Amino acid sequence: MPDLYAVIGNPIAHSKSPEIHARFAQEAGQVMQYTRLLAPLDSFATTVQKFIEEGAKGANVTVPFKLDAYALATILTDRAEAAGAVNTLKFDGDTILGDNTDGIGLVTDIVRNAGVGLTGKRILLLGAGGAARGALLPLLQTQPSQLVLANRTLAKAEDLAQQIALNFPNEARITTCEFADLQDQFDIVINATSASLQADVPPIPPHVFGVSTLAYDMMYGQQPTVFMQFASAHGASVRDGLGMLVEQAAEAFFVWRGVRPQTADVYAALRAQL
Ligand code: ATR
Repeated sequence: MPDLYAVIGNPIAHSKSPEIHARFAQEAGQVMQYTRLLAPLDSFATTVQKFIEEGAKGANVTVPFKLDAYALATILTDRAEAAGAVNTLKFDGDTILGDNTDGIGLVTDIVRNAGVGLTGKRILLLGAGGAARGALLPLLQTQPSQLVLANRTLAKAEDLAQQIALNFPNEARITTCEFADLQDQFDIVINATSASLQADVPPIPPHVFGVSTLAYDMMYGQQPTVFMQFASAHGASVRDGLGMLVEQAAEAFFVWRGVRPQTADVYAALRAQL
């Protein structure tokens, strides 16, 4: 019987993960089965336990269970600890490893796929919710010269920066800022707010963008997001979050199987479906 995996969420019908992992498995010559699992809103842990009893080896976790998965894990990776959320579970005997591959997925997409190095660069991260939090440690570990975290509610950015400084004292410090107080131009501007969902743009001054800036929106869709349109109107190169989706899945695949799948064909296939 092939090794068993699933993506667990509620709702789950829309998830692209089964297609992504089926393509990875085929490409990497790995025999595995990957399904969708709809967990009732109040029974995430029971759903996972039942899945483990069926012989499952791992799972991806999506909305709204990433905090439940964090609580359920018996071991956490540093990046899951820093994110305060888990999107990848690996089952091994009585051990439930909780990992978070979202941030490294973002970094891989920027560095490897977009070809934009982050070391020594000035990074501006917009937002202080779950998406921003998941990106912070992997971004810091690329050793940027500066990482500025700006959010509509400044106190949330300050809390996040403080938690990272407390738990990861060896990493460089994060600077926090209100949108209106942003003075400088940045090499990379990452939109981790959910503003694009409301066809809105965080009210940042346009001088954060220049011709050498990469503006990255974690959201993706058929059209450039309003954030991407705003950034390109001010000279920046733009990229949406489809590559992050594919790369976070590739990292989960690596955590489970010890094999790094090629991602270019999967990315192209998903792009063609948008
Ligand atoms: P996620 O898990 O996607 O990060 P979240 O935890 O609800 O979602 O966080 C949403 C983030 O988007 C927050 O940083 C939020 O700002 P506040 O902390 O001030 O609420 C930000 N956000 C949402 N809509 C926004 C908008 N229209 N303009 C600017 N920021 C917005």
